[in-house]
Amino acid sequence: MLNQCVKTGLTLTLICAAFTANAADKLPNVMILATGGTIAGTGATSTTTVGYTAAKIGVERLIEAVPELQKVAQVKGEQVFQIASENMSNEHWLKLAKRVNEVLKKSDVDGVVITHGTDTIEETAYFLNLVVKSKKPVVIVGAMRPATAISADGPINLYNAVALAGSKEAVGQGVLVSLNDEIQGARDVTKTNTMTGNTFRAPELGSLGYMVSGQAKFYRSSTRKHTSETEFDISKLETLPAVDIAYGSANANTLAIDAFAAAGDVGIVYAGTGDGSLSTPVRTRLTELRQKGIHINRSSRVGNGPTVRGGENDDDKTDFTVSDTLTPQKARILLMLALTKTKDSKEIQRMFYTY
Ligand code: DGL
Repeated sequence: MLNQCVKTGLTLTLICAAFTANAADKLPNVMILATGGTIAGTGATSTTTVGYTAAKIGVERLIEAVPELQKVAQVKGEQVFQIASENMSNEHWLKLAKRVNEVLKKSDVDGVVITHGTDTIEETAYFLNLVVKSKKPVVIVGAMRPATAISADGPINLYNAVALAGSKEAVGQGVLVSLNDEIQGARDVTKTNTMTGNTFRAPELGSLGYMVSGQAKFYRSSTRKHTSETEFDISKLETLPAVDIAYGSANANTLAIDAFAAAGDVGIVYAGTGDGSLSTPVRTRLTELRQKGIHINRSSRVGNGPTVRGGENDDDKTDFTVSDTLTPQKARILLMLALTKTKDSKEIQRMFYTY
């Protein structure tokens, strides 16, 4: 009798083990590429939510801190950088994008999560949206409180990001940003508050959906081309064209744009007032610089609404392009990539209406 019980028990154990293994085999494989930021940050006390140090905790500890990840995916981690995201550079972007494309080519990878500082998360997301050559999900995640803080948001944000990256719903949706139980599209998301957990918004164009108990709920998709539909290829690039942003205001002068030109910039994005308006001295100087071969993209500091071609400037006459609804920081990214393909303003404007 005892032998029979032992045999039965052993059989049940083996069946359970096989079931568990089989269930694990059915989980998606998600690679976490860590770059730093507050999600990996530490503060002096549990109530320190500003004045902490970003980019201190390694990817393995981030994964260990969320054992629930094992219920939604088979996870592996890789530390690509360990930086505060205000230090993200064009060279960091090229290295990260090449690694993402390399990882996504693997048949045993179903999605990628990138942990990242929130200061430039929207820029990295848009850059990857334009250069990742796959429909597989790429989800960028950060946190507004350091890992050492009471009610740190990093763990739940990481859980949601991994669940989203492993979901079928996220396939083909372009690069996504997920914090605060929301799903944002790379093109339209921006950081709207220096402090609060709900900082990432697409203020007028809206989020794409929500994460509900680890389930992705999409309600809309981006209307612009991205990822597998992109015409941009960074695989052989070691640098990106020099493009900087000048900021418009009352009393606007030409000091910044003169400095950019003197430094050898090939493109300048001007964050104008209103609908991309230019003061007379700025318009005159930008027109001169265009005639010298520097590409000028007229954008707006306002943050919502399109900068319209021919609205506040005769763009056909000055041969400027306009950023449409892209913020200046994202217009810089698209202009850099456009200039890796063409110097033709009409082609560049087409790209701003396509991506
Ligand atoms: N230094 C900022 C960064 O790494 C901290 C902000 C954050 O990650 O939330 O982007």
